[in-house]
Amino acid sequence: MPGNTDDRRHAPATERNRDPIVSVLQGILPESGLALEIASGTGEHAIHFARVFPGLTWQPSDPSADARQSISAWIAAEGLSNMREPLDLDAASEDWPIAKASAILCINMIHISPWEATEGLMRGAGQLLETGSPLYLYGPYRRADRPLEPSNEAFDRDLRSRDSRWGLRDVEKVAECASRQRLRLVNTVDMPANNLSLVFRKE
Ligand SMILES: C[S@@+](CC[C@H](N)C(=O)[O-])C[C@H]1O[C@@H](n2cnc3c(N)ncnc32)[C@H](O)[C@@H]1O
Repeated sequence: MPGNTDDRRHAPATERNRDPIVSVLQGILPESGLALEIASGTGEHAIHFARVFPGLTWQPSDPSADARQSISAWIAAEGLSNMREPLDLDAASEDWPIAKASAILCINMIHISPWEATEGLMRGAGQLLETGSPLYLYGPYRRADRPLEPSNEAFDRDLRSRDSRWGLRDVEKVAECASRQRLRLVNTVDMPANNLSLVFRKE
């Protein structure tokens, strides 16, 4: 259903992290095809990426009806021809409403959802992506070789107090989960504010 522009929601962090994310995406996204975003939230990232990468068709998604309403409202307001209406997609589901993608992105979801969402994300990405195609993750993580930064330690505590199934994930465990679906971690990029970009490729 077309969105009403008044339903646009705004997450200020997206304006801060979108261009550092674009810098990483420039090195990994294909020129054309379909880019599927999991957990699009307000839709602001997808809108920005659709402008910066006009050769790709952007497919946002989110299991939250409120989020999808905001995404539709942004689409209606921006009038971008390379953006599709959002899908109702729960990463943890066995049955995704889409069969193929040239690239998959998931920003700031895996620490704020149960581990089953990460397992489902990897399972879905393993099924949808062709050999060589990228899966891009962004967010705060734990790393085996260094202590958690104080800001991320506090964030982790806050997440766990809100839902005991949430919390910052170990990069190594995420990579292991991905490898079971033939997704290999090929690059880890330090990002502003103690975040990481993780780039996987389908083997
Ligand atoms: C912190 S917001 C991030 C939104 C956006 N990617 C951003 O960075 O602004 C987390 C999003 O994850 C979505 N989410 C939570 N569990 C999910 C799941 N199992 N599958 C897909 N999305 C999920 C929520 O609906 C929410 O929109």
